[in-house]
Amino acid sequence: MVSRVIPVDPFDLVIFGSTGDLAQRKILPALFRRYCAGQWPEDVQIIGAARSDLDSDAFRDLVAQSLRTHAPAQFRDSSALNAFLQRVDYVALDALSDEGWGNLAAKLTIDRVRAFYFSVGPRLFGPLAERIKANDLATAQTRIVVEKPFGHDLGSAQTLNATLAAHFSEGQIYRIDHYLGKETVQNLMAVRFGNMLFEPLWNSQYVDHIQITVAESVGIDGREEYYERAGAMRDMVQNHLMQLLCLIAMEPPAKFDPDAVRDEKLKVIRALDPVKPHHIVRGQFEGGPNGLSYRDTVGNPRSTTESYVALRAHVSNWRWAGTPFYLRTGKRLVARSSVINVMFKDAPHSIFGADAGRHANVLSIRLQPNEGITLKVTIKEPGQGGMRLVDVPLDMSFAEALGPENQNPPDAYERLVMDVIRGNQTLFMRGDEVEAAWAWTDPIIAGWQARGDVPKPYESGSTGPGDAELLMKRDGRRWQGINP
Ligand SMILES: NC(=O)c1ccc[n+]([C@@H]2O[C@H](COP(=O)([O-])OP(=O)(O)OC[C@H]3O[C@@H](n4cnc5c(N)ncnc54)[C@H](OP(=O)(O)O)[C@@H]3O)[C@@H](O)[C@H]2O)c1
Repeated sequence: MVSRVIPVDPFDLVIFGSTGDLAQRKILPALFRRYCAGQWPEDVQIIGAARSDLDSDAFRDLVAQSLRTHAPAQFRDSSALNAFLQRVDYVALDALSDEGWGNLAAKLTIDRVRAFYFSVGPRLFGPLAERIKANDLATAQTRIVVEKPFGHDLGSAQTLNATLAAHFSEGQIYRIDHYLGKETVQNLMAVRFGNMLFEPLWNSQYVDHIQITVAESVGIDGREEYYERAGAMRDMVQNHLMQLLCLIAMEPPAKFDPDAVRDEKLKVIRALDPVKPHHIVRGQFEGGPNGLSYRDTVGNPRSTTESYVALRAHVSNWRWAGTPFYLRTGKRLVARSSVINVMFKDAPHSIFGADAGRHANVLSIRLQPNEGITLKVTIKEPGQGGMRLVDVPLDMSFAEALGPENQNPPDAYERLVMDVIRGNQTLFMRGDEVEAAWAWTDPIIAGWQARGDVPKPYESGSTGPGDAELLMKRDGRRWQGINP
């Protein structure tokens, strides 16, 4: 089965922060892959913008270098690369001054989709929106793409939403959460709402609990200043884990359209109970063979910022009453692994007797690495020896079912950038969703501050602090392993 490429109309894409890490490592390689796939026409313009005093050729050299490192090997062929670079241009400008904006205006094409990607630090989101408007660069076909973090708390998110709303309509604002662009996350919706099999069981009557794990083996190197102010709660839980929770917990939307989906997600966030202090574990990694401790990394021996969070959340509605959602995320853990496990209840009665043990189905939705979905089912162990039961994965490996070309699903940024051009906001966060997520997160953080909470140390390369195991154990449950 070969994936179908739906071509988009010509567009201009301006990447503010085009010399930075995200643009060079993710956005430009994603655009290049879509170009190689034949998704966009020859007269597209990609205009990099940043303060660095580069001419267009010097910027193209920089992009070429990045693509040789970050684009997949089969796309590094020089004819495609050169053709792509012909579409790339550069303007030196400062988001905080008026210089350079006239040059940008002169390069833009009239009467086509015009997207401005804010791949810069969050303090520049507001000034960029203001300058785009002040310099008359915004048209009816203009979209802005805003990176994370979207605010630091509810107040700052509301201020940012208000600033953006002063210049752009909600339909023009694309707030990125790149987890939503992952193929498996979209597949989660296909599995839930495209099959009769799962949805009838998708509630507290049949689901014992849900585990959402986003584990990273890396530390925070290069992001020390930001991370020390943010911590895992703001950096990961408020956005990525919250989005995953929403997609698992939401009611079926009436249709797969942006507001129908986002309305349902918002209802989930609003149904979340406040989290009790004894349902949260915070951790901070210690030093080890693979690097410095958290405190040494940020150069603050008294830091109380968490590099790990595990918590138990409750969605208070008819569907989920009594089914807890356990969320955990952390840095410097044993492996890089993002997976959602839907843990079904045991069968109500075992006809095979006590020796057969307890068996429950687990639906694992794996986001990275090796995207895919597995359903663990119980079968008879083959051979002699009576009725011995064993749990085996009923594999929904995309590669096997859909052919080898689906072994490497597109990067999230490929999907998301093309959705911006197409004008499809389904996989982007709406302003009220972001605010509701902060409204749930803020009291948790305020509670830590009020109590002077100090995170528990955990060994680098482990699964996190022992208290996170206890969080589950107290409920008679345990975490699934964190496997690479
Ligand atoms: N890197 C990631 O993996 C990642 C992941 C998720 C989200 N993000 C978010 O994406 C955004 C960019 O991150 P990054 O890692 O790419 O940052 P970065 O490497 O520090 O790059 C920042 C970019 O902004 C430009 N810039 C800085 N001040 C400017 C100004 N006054 N006017 C115009 N351009 C200016 C810089 O170029 P000049 O110095 O030449 O101006 C550079 O191109 C941030 O909001 C970050 O939180 C990044």
